[in-house]
Amino acid sequence: MKKAILAGLMILVAVVFFGSLAGGQEDMKTIDNSVFEQPRRPAAVFLHDEHNENAGIEDCSRCHHLFDENGNKLEDESSEDQSCSECHAMSDKEGRPSLRKAFHLNCKGCHLELKKGPVTCGSCHRWDSQSIR
Ligand code: HEC
Ligand code: HEC
Ligand code: HEC
Ligand code: HEC
Repeated sequence: MKKAILAGLMILVAVVFFGSLAGGQEDMKTIDNSVFEQPRRPAAVFLHDEHNENAGIEDCSRCHHLFDENGNKLEDESSEDQSCSECHAMSDKEGRPSLRKAFHLNCKGCHLELKKGPVTCGSCHRWDSQSIR
C-alpha cells in the first residue's frame, strides 16, 4: 500500500516537473509584468511571433533596439537577448523613458501611427489574458 502511494507521488512529481519544463518552452502570450512590484493591470496580451507575423514586422530592432553613447540608433544591431527592464528603469532616467512609458510608447505608438492594433487600456490589459489559447 505504502509503495503504491509512493509510486503515485513519484508520477505526480514527474508530471508536474516535466509539465513546467514544457510550459517554459511555450510561445509568449503576455508580457512578463513581474518586474512591476505591484502590477495594477493584468499583463498585456502579446503573442510575440504571431503578432509580429500578422503586423509584418521583420526588423527585430524595431522593438529590441540599441543606441550608441550619443543616442543614435544602431540600425543593424538588436538587443533581443535583453529585457526592456535591463535598460528602462521604473522612472525616466538619462533620456530614457520609464519602463511603463517605454512599453506604451512602443506598443501604442505604433498602433496609433499605423491605425492598426489595440489602443484602449482594456484591449491590451485583458482580464482574461491568462487564458488566451
Ligand atoms: C513589436 C515588438 C517586437 C518585435 C518586432 C520583436 N520583439 Fe522580441 N520581444 C518583444 C517584447 C516586448 C519582449 C519581452 C521583453 C521583456 O519582457 O522585457 C520580447 C522578448 C523576446 C525574447 C525573449 C523572451 C522569449 O520568451 O522569447 C526573444 C528571444 C526575442 N524577443 C526575440 C526577437 C527576435 C529574434 C525578433 C525579430 C525576429 C523580435 N524578438 C522581434 C517585442 C518584440
Ligand atoms: C540595451 C538597452 C535597451 C534595451 C534593452 C531597450 N531599450 Fe529602449 N531605449 C534605450 C535607450 C538608451 C533609449 C534612449 C534613446 C535616446 O537617447 O533617444 C531608449 C528609448 C526608448 C524609447 C523612446 C524612444 C523611441 O525609440 O521611441 C522607447 C519607446 C523604448 N526605448 C522602448 C523599449 C522597449 C519596448 C524595449 C524592449 C522591447 C526596449 N526599449 C529595450 C535603451 C534600451
Ligand atoms: C511596429 C509596429 C507595432 C509595434 C511596435 C507593436 N504592434 Fe501590436 N500590432 C501592430 C499591428 C500592425 C497590428 C494589427 C495586425 C493585424 O491587423 O493583424 C497589431 C496588433 C496587436 C494586437 C491584436 C492581436 C494581434 O496579435 O494581432 C495586440 C494585442 C497587440 N498588437 C499588442 C502589442 C503590444 C503589447 C506591443 C508592445 C509590446 C505591440 N503590440 C507593439 C503593430 C505593432
Ligand atoms: C498597446 C497595448 C497597451 C495599451 C493600449 C495600454 N497598455 Fe499599459 N502596458 C502595456 C505593456 C506591454 C506594459 C508592460 C507590462 C504589462 O504587460 O503589464 C504596460 C504596463 C502598464 C502599467 C504598469 C504595470 C502595472 O500593471 O502596474 C500600467 C499601470 C498600465 N500599463 C496602465 C495602462 C492604462 C491605464 C492604459 C490605458 C490608458 C494602458 N495601460 C494602455 C501595454 C498597453
